[in-house]
Amino acid sequence: MRQVQLLVNASHFKGKHFISMRDYNREELDFILDTADQMVELEKQGSDLCKSKVLASMFFEPSTRTRLSFETAMFRLGGNVTTVADPKTSSAAKGETLEDTIKTIQNYADIIAMRHPDNDAALRAAKVAMVPYINGGSGSWEHPTQTMLDLHCIRYAKGGMDGLTIGMVGDLKHGRTVHSLLLALRHYDVKVKLIAPEQLKMKPDVIEGTEGKIEIEEVTDLKKTLPELDLIYMTRVQKERFPDPADYDKVKNSYILDKALLSKGKRDVVVMHPLPRVNEIATDIDPLPNAWYFRQVKHGIYARMAIMGLALGVL
Ligand code: CP
Repeated sequence: MRQVQLLVNASHFKGKHFISMRDYNREELDFILDTADQMVELEKQGSDLCKSKVLASMFFEPSTRTRLSFETAMFRLGGNVTTVADPKTSSAAKGETLEDTIKTIQNYADIIAMRHPDNDAALRAAKVAMVPYINGGSGSWEHPTQTMLDLHCIRYAKGGMDGLTIGMVGDLKHGRTVHSLLLALRHYDVKVKLIAPEQLKMKPDVIEGTEGKIEIEEVTDLKKTLPELDLIYMTRVQKERFPDPADYDKVKNSYILDKALLSKGKRDVVVMHPLPRVNEIATDIDPLPNAWYFRQVKHGIYARMAIMGLALGVL
């Protein structure tokens, strides 16, 4: 019988930061996803695996899903949470550097999840963090835990990533979720259509980061491309990243997916969105079986339980 050598196991992730999808190979991603599968039952039952562990949840940019799902995930693992949800209430508002903030809060917490408006924040924080640092969104750079929940949701919606043609639609320039997702998808047998207006095209360094491993096509016409797609990953045009509001106004309505447009696609096309949405998915899609974006949210708990549990060495 052929011996299968297990190269990745839980100890591989113990004590490690989680900052970029550039750092992971397929085996590692699949191991985290398989661990997230195990969290589905654990989330229902609750556990005390992280009893006496503390998560510092530091959010220097607005968040509903990421912050609350990190915190809920830690509660489901039996741990505790200390949080900064409003940057004005932390000493960053008095001019404390990010590095000094990290060096301080690691005295209180066993693990740190942070969101920050600066692109380089995750790398800077990880450089000084002595406890596992989890990137909860770093400017418009990356949002790798979102990708883990996205991949986990795709496994539920489509049975896996291999063989899919995936369309990423909207603000591919500023959208950190699509940067991390595209980088992760380089390890799967997928075709990706990047659907964006000229001003919001995917950053070249992210495309380069896929190392030519997947077929990528950049297009502007959603209606024309839609029939080819197995999965549509819609994104919000990120108003807060535009220095000039007039530039936002020019592109804010670039793509609006509604029921009529969706009917041009495959019957079983899956619609995902990291949320929040503004107007890019019409609410007439919400009741359709194709709409996965609110079910997608739940996978944030499973993925973040897995990521934190592995980093803390309790799984
Ligand atoms: N998907 C996501 O990052 O949502 P929040 O901004 O609400 O955390």
